[in-house]
Amino acid sequence: MSKEQKIDWLANELQGDAVDMVKKLKAFWHQDSEVQSRLDEFSENTITNYSLPFGVAPNFLLNGKIYTVPMVIEESSVVAAASWASKYWLDRGGFKAKVISTKKIGQIHFLWNGRTENLKNFFEECREELLHSVDEITANMVTRGGGIVGLELADLTSEIENYFQIRVYCETCNAMGANFINSILEEMSVVFRNKVASNQNFSETERELEIIMCILSNYTPECLVECCVECKVEDLGEFPNGMDAETFARRFVTAVKIAQVDPNRAVTHNKGIMNGIDAVVVATGNDFRAIEACAHAYASRDGKYRSLTSAFVENGMFKFSIRVPLAVGTVGGLTSIHPLAKTSLAILGTPTSVELMEIMAAVGLAQNFAAVKSLVTVGIQRGHMKLHLLNILNQLNATQEQVERAKDFFSDKIISFKSVRNFLT
Ligand code: MEV
Repeated sequence: MSKEQKIDWLANELQGDAVDMVKKLKAFWHQDSEVQSRLDEFSENTITNYSLPFGVAPNFLLNGKIYTVPMVIEESSVVAAASWASKYWLDRGGFKAKVISTKKIGQIHFLWNGRTENLKNFFEECREELLHSVDEITANMVTRGGGIVGLELADLTSEIENYFQIRVYCETCNAMGANFINSILEEMSVVFRNKVASNQNFSETERELEIIMCILSNYTPECLVECCVECKVEDLGEFPNGMDAETFARRFVTAVKIAQVDPNRAVTHNKGIMNGIDAVVVATGNDFRAIEACAHAYASRDGKYRSLTSAFVENGMFKFSIRVPLAVGTVGGLTSIHPLAKTSLAILGTPTSVELMEIMAAVGLAQNFAAVKSLVTVGIQRGHMKLHLLNILNQLNATQEQVERAKDFFSDKIISFKSVRNFLT
């Protein structure tokens, strides 16, 4: 079916106001049909576009350079909080970030019944041939400075009978590299299976190797970035309700410690970090599901789910930092074909993937700083509800004049749906 036919089909299937629905779906089509076709092709059965706000958080001083960071997110306070935190740290030395490593891993999962020692020896004999078997796939990446950087056989027979893995470690330069790694794995798995099948030193059973699957791992603890801010405690300034810098620092550090030891708090704490990171991940056309899955697995790496950030005061200095794995790309995939992803990267000054990792880590840290600062000072609701007021007013179809008057009225009052409705009435 064409897109029009799909919409007609849907309208026929549905009872109720189908005309209105069709109108609404079409109203969100892009006015440029070429752009629309491109958007349609990202997925299957596309019938329209789903809009989210695209905002910018300016003043991010990171490693001595100022960035304006594009953020795509629907939650009303996120961009405001990031912008507040970037400006706050702009006057205090800014963010310092460094990528620790960028290695990614893919796995060939297979079953093989025999003596592990025999397989290990055979794998070593084949190592060079296996590496060269994917030369055609890796050639371009190698010219750019990447490619395969490690190959190993892992024996997991203690977990599952006859279960082994070939682990392929890769550097994928500015690409996220999922397709690159998966292509390597699929090709190499066939070569290895064939080599095992034709090895005359193996018994008949040993010559049978069953490939279960070949896939990259989205757990990338070795694609890791670190970012920090620091200043003298006294330079933290004054906080609402007359809270002094020392009290703020003590309460802030305690709040982060709580997120280190209590998973209930840690999940919400990290969710706040991901508010910022995801918004940049989406804006730049990266895969936010992969980033989320990996970040939370990393937060549990010692067996307990903990905060991704840490904070402490040492010799009168307030120090706040984040360590997070972020496998992102600035070329390939959606980054190169979504028109707004390209625009986001342009706003960031066309960063390398390493720079983008640093930017995302800085935004995550900023987001967390703003959230915890609110939590330990005036509470989260004041800022949240101020922005939420607009959503409530929109839901109630308030006019521009009513919006302005409501903003005035609620500047020092508690906001709820009911109180706003009462005000409008
Ligand atoms: C809301 O989206 C995020 C926060 O809950 C984060 C936090 O509690 O640290 C405010």
